[in-house]
Amino acid sequence: MLKNDPLWFKDAIIYEVPVRAFADSNGDGIGDLRGLTEKLDYLQDLGVTAIWTLPFFPSPLRDDGYDIADYRSINSIYGNIEDFQQLLDAAHDRGIRVIIELVVNHTSDKHPWFQRARRAPKGSVERDFYVWSDSADKFPEVRIIFQDFENSNWAWDSVAQAYYWHRFFYHQPDLNYENPAVQDAVLELADFWLSMGVDGMRLDAVPYLCVEEGTNCENLPGTHVFLKKLRGHIDSKYPNRMLLAEANQWPEDAAKYYGAGDECHMNFHFPLMPRLFMALRMEDNFPISDILKQTPSIPNNCQWALFLRNHDELTLEMVSDEDRDYMYKAYAQDPQARINLGIRRRLSPLLGNDRRQIELLNSLLLSLPGTPVLYYGDEIGMGDNIYLGDRNGVRTPMQWTADRNAGFSRTNPQRLYAPVIVDPEYHYETINVEAQQANSNSLWWWMKRLISTRERFQAFGRGSFELLHPENRKVLAFTRTYSGQHILVVANLSRFVQIVELDLSAFNGMVPVEIFGRTKFPAIKEYPYFFSLSPYAFYWFTLQPQQTYIETPKPLSKLPVLTVAGNWKDIFSQAEIKSRLESILPNYLSSFPWFGGKNKVIQSTEITEVIPIDYQQKKLL
Ligand code: NOJ
Ligand code: CA
Repeated sequence: MLKNDPLWFKDAIIYEVPVRAFADSNGDGIGDLRGLTEKLDYLQDLGVTAIWTLPFFPSPLRDDGYDIADYRSINSIYGNIEDFQQLLDAAHDRGIRVIIELVVNHTSDKHPWFQRARRAPKGSVERDFYVWSDSADKFPEVRIIFQDFENSNWAWDSVAQAYYWHRFFYHQPDLNYENPAVQDAVLELADFWLSMGVDGMRLDAVPYLCVEEGTNCENLPGTHVFLKKLRGHIDSKYPNRMLLAEANQWPEDAAKYYGAGDECHMNFHFPLMPRLFMALRMEDNFPISDILKQTPSIPNNCQWALFLRNHDELTLEMVSDEDRDYMYKAYAQDPQARINLGIRRRLSPLLGNDRRQIELLNSLLLSLPGTPVLYYGDEIGMGDNIYLGDRNGVRTPMQWTADRNAGFSRTNPQRLYAPVIVDPEYHYETINVEAQQANSNSLWWWMKRLISTRERFQAFGRGSFELLHPENRKVLAFTRTYSGQHILVVANLSRFVQIVELDLSAFNGMVPVEIFGRTKFPAIKEYPYFFSLSPYAFYWFTLQPQQTYIETPKPLSKLPVLTVAGNWKDIFSQAEIKSRLESILPNYLSSFPWFGGKNKVIQSTEITEVIPIDYQQKKLL
């Protein structure tokens, strides 16, 4: 059951999943929709509340499905439309939303629109579905994105006897948004999937929709006009849907994709991502604090999507040349690890398989302002294979068990769409879900606890953000506040022990209570608050008013109030409301004399069973 909340994406934990790589249900060596559906319980258990599926449409698969030949059906290697509907229903039953791809900057050259266009008369509506030119010199200001593969954004088409425009691979012609018929066709595609019940759409490569001579053809006004039209169209027909922009741009331009709250609901924070890695390696909070300062505030109904890694290279397009050199030196000494303007590695290998650094970056991912997007396999610290070509090294089969093909598929290992990771350090026999679930000290369990802790405090998803300015720049510290709830985050970016003094005078008299262990720290006074932090340590605190922090158990004078939108009985059936109830229970329960454990704290509560009582009958008895 899904909560009726248009801002659901603010509290979400999004999990990015390539269908091909997750689970193979029919033993052909390729992950599929049924396989993914079978793994929804796993994702629910981890705490995921939304999945973002990578393209599953018919495609020549020369760009892993971002080269679409038919937008309205499913590639038969992944299943069929019924399988997709089943995935959607099963996800919704578990309170998990489904975000799919709307790749409408370009199509595959095999798409019937392109086949029709290249044969249609010059100047016709059909021909003008794409951008044509008689010369390859037009738009000289435009950069080339896939630098390792293409040397021009124009390709010659011998059938049309003209050049066509492409921002990515030559076999991905860009659609022409000057043509109203293209815009209409795109709205129809959105209708097709949204009317099935899809909850969100990621708009691939959205800055490049419109082109205009004399510009760099990015972020043009026409693109924003179209996005407003798309948003208006969706809002008028479907409640609670979300548009997620993939706009790899500087903060100023990226924030424009929110419009005035009337374009996209979400957008990836591309500039922040590499700066998290830089700050860690430089042991300096500056890259993070600086980029956040440069990030404009965004409308209330919008949210940044934060990520550490995804299915592409760790892109270094949004950093200076100097910073890019630094990142290559720090994180990709091996030239084989570099591709285009980025690094094709997974999280764990990037961080030298150092558990403390992995935890630290994940703790920032889940506490900085925005919604975290996790990349499949990173919850178990999966490795990569930089020898696989293009970006395939970070798209290998999910590692479920130590069995054949890592439990991903029953097929002959030679038939797998890509080999499983057998690197000695990340071998699937060691790094797999089953092994990690069996050990409560594993990264998987740590991630699960981190996610469920975040879910207990809405301030992480919805709160304001205030950066603190400690003299010791090896420490990053900030607060998040939402309807009276204050969170303090303190993170040591250094590999050595650090001390830090924070000006917390705005919270004078309050008590920092460490969130994971519920340990009370000394009350905040006017003078600087002192912390010592072990290497890569991070703390999350709630700041609580001193008087409500109960020393001797006594019944609360007022019962805590939980406000819900629909029926009160939903508190037991809707995961999100249930977890809010669970988060207020510890304070409530420890206020009773029967609990009486002065030195004990209730760390968390979980409702495992709900037993309905017929109130009328009880009264009669
Ligand atoms: C962005 C996608 O994330 C990437 O994988 C793809 O290659 C390009 N868009 C082109 O579609
Ligand atoms: Ca399969």
